[in-house]
Amino acid sequence: KTAAIVGCPFSGGQPRLGVDQGPIHLVKAGLIGQLEALGWKVNFDGHHQFEEISAANDPPIGILKNPRLVSRVTQSVAQAVGAHAAKGELPLTLGGDHSLAMGTISGTFSKYPDACVIWIDAHADINTAESTGSGNIHGMPVSFLLGIGSKFEEFSWVKPVLSPERLVYIGLRDVDVGEKQILRDNKIKAFSMHEVDKYGIGKVVEMALDHVNPNRDRPIHLSFDVDALDPSVAPSTGTPVRGGLTFREGHYICETIYETGLLVAMDLMEVNPSLADEASVQQTVAVGCSLLRSALGETLL
Ligand code: ARG
Ligand code: MN
Ligand code: MN
Ligand code: MN
Repeated sequence: KTAAIVGCPFSGGQPRLGVDQGPIHLVKAGLIGQLEALGWKVNFDGHHQFEEISAANDPPIGILKNPRLVSRVTQSVAQAVGAHAAKGELPLTLGGDHSLAMGTISGTFSKYPDACVIWIDAHADINTAESTGSGNIHGMPVSFLLGIGSKFEEFSWVKPVLSPERLVYIGLRDVDVGEKQILRDNKIKAFSMHEVDKYGIGKVVEMALDHVNPNRDRPIHLSFDVDALDPSVAPSTGTPVRGGLTFREGHYICETIYETGLLVAMDLMEVNPSLADEASVQQTVAVGCSLLRSALGETLL
């Protein structure tokens, strides 16, 4: 068993500097050795290098900010993830902002067309060009993958690989009005923090798997935004929202998905080491590594 680290120092899907340093900190914290200690062979050939497009050469297209940069970066991530998956490796993509998931999920589906996506986040990241208030593409990757909202020539490489019934959310608590309508219109299953409180994380993960993976036979892509965790657990992130998952709830999700034996790719996104003090940064990076270890088989006993 081989995992491939796809380090993506990229921040162009949102305005705050520093989230591009997330993958560098995760690797420096010893992630690779930690995964090797779990018995994995780890393939890491350095952080992904992206071509640069200056802001001056990348004016908005409609409301989309940094559209060419985000499109080209995510397209190259799709190729990288797809190539690792094609070799039978498990790609672990370290962000960087969550627009990268446009690439990672496209890459996963190139190898596993019958996959499902479990999206762990405070946010739904399903805005369309019509519904977004911010124009930040990290709030929009899911709509592109579903093929909803207006289409852009620049993003014509993104195919609508994801269907609404193959997607489930856990942890939502900051969903824009337009996004709520999109979730309803497309009958997308979502377990907000309300459902986590009501049923407990054990039942929620079971219901989520029953929805996207009733026979437990579909490959799973896990896209984990660190801001799904409560800010007291993961403070160094660009859009923190109080009332999030506990340390254990986050880990429980990863542990349970590992136990299915169906995990084929994981993203760990939105770690921003330039936000908050040194201790908070260390705590957030450590929790990121720890979530990845749980998803790759670390057990408590
Ligand atoms: N919904 C807001 C927006 O569209 C926030 C998105 C936050 N996304 C994230 N990946 N942290 O801008
Ligand atoms: Mn690689
Ligand atoms: Mn988020
Ligand atoms: Mn997100």
